[in-house]
Amino acid sequence: MKKIAVVVGARPQFIKLAPVVEIFSDKVKLVIIHTGQHYDFEMSDVFFHQLNLPQVDYHLGIGSDSQAAQVGRMMIELEKVFVKESPDMTAVIGDTNSTLAGALAAAKNNIPLAHIEAGLRSNNNHLPEQINRVVTDHLSNIFCCPTQSSVDHLKAEGIKNGIFLTGDILYDVIDRIIPDDEFIDSFLAENNLKPGDYILFTVHRAENADSIDFLQALVAGLENLPWQIFLPLHPRTKGKLEEFGLMNRLSAIANVRISEPVGIIESLALTKSSLGVMTDSGGLQREAAFFGKKSYILRDETEWLELKRCGAVVCIKSDLRNTEFDWNSYSSPGSEYFQKASQKIADCIINALYMK
Ligand code: UD1
Repeated sequence: MKKIAVVVGARPQFIKLAPVVEIFSDKVKLVIIHTGQHYDFEMSDVFFHQLNLPQVDYHLGIGSDSQAAQVGRMMIELEKVFVKESPDMTAVIGDTNSTLAGALAAAKNNIPLAHIEAGLRSNNNHLPEQINRVVTDHLSNIFCCPTQSSVDHLKAEGIKNGIFLTGDILYDVIDRIIPDDEFIDSFLAENNLKPGDYILFTVHRAENADSIDFLQALVAGLENLPWQIFLPLHPRTKGKLEEFGLMNRLSAIANVRISEPVGIIESLALTKSSLGVMTDSGGLQREAAFFGKKSYILRDETEWLELKRCGAVVCIKSDLRNTEFDWNSYSSPGSEYFQKASQKIADCIINALYMK
């Protein structure tokens, strides 16, 4: 049986690992490698529990570091695993430092590479996620593209072969764990939230969380928002708010409820029952669109161009005070946008593996 090494390490990758494990279960041997980029219970273990994921085969325990040091240390450990396991292919997901390290280590060891969520682009070539995406795509052999615009980007960059429009694997995840009304009611009650009466708010990207100017503007904006805000706080953002002396001011805002990061089931429950979402997360804007909720994105751009085009997503960066919010003007990208992707991903990867 052919062997695929799957490299994961950060929260969104654990979430998308569930359909990947299922689609390959009896067709290939999967070797799951966790780089250790995310290590807190709320950032890692909770997803393995909630999604019933198998134990990883290797945990590299890399943890936090500067951008290059984190990627470099991951590559060194990944190479050892690749030499030991000699996989027929490596698969990476998304745009994190774990994605880039997996791609570089695979390419350096002459292992064919499949990229799930290939071809996404923003206009900003300085962002760590954009660097990770572009380099990963230009090392890959199989491109599982979630959207037509991601296919178009790859073609415009001169990539000719191995491109597949598969759809977005996140919708396979939602399909399998969508929370029921009983769970949603009790979770909202525990957190003193009323359906349709609060905004789910998340912020974690380095470009935002590491900027004192952004965080100051954000806290000032939050002080003026008229809605109840539920804010599961990412550890990166929490650390920076404390470092910049902004945490007490944020905690003092009466209508902002700060919580630890939540699991995927709680996150879907919060999204489904919200008035809408404010976020800089790639995943949350897609989940919100699935539930017919509008997202205001705390960035100047989004990689999810189809959602922006139909008005499901509006980019506002941190200018919360000068934004006119309209939670009702919303149009869906259409039901075909939300189709499941995992079978198509499995087909293109397995065909490539067995037809070599
Ligand atoms: C990473 C990804 C981002 C993705 C996000 C999802 C990169 C470049 N960025 O950003 O694309 O959207 O994950 O969450 O890979 N920390 C903890 N506990 C943890 C994990 C992180 O305390 O379990 C703290 C550490 O202080 C660390 C900081 O968060 O320095 C940032 O961690 P990092 O590995 O840079 O990832 P994210 O910011 O989460």
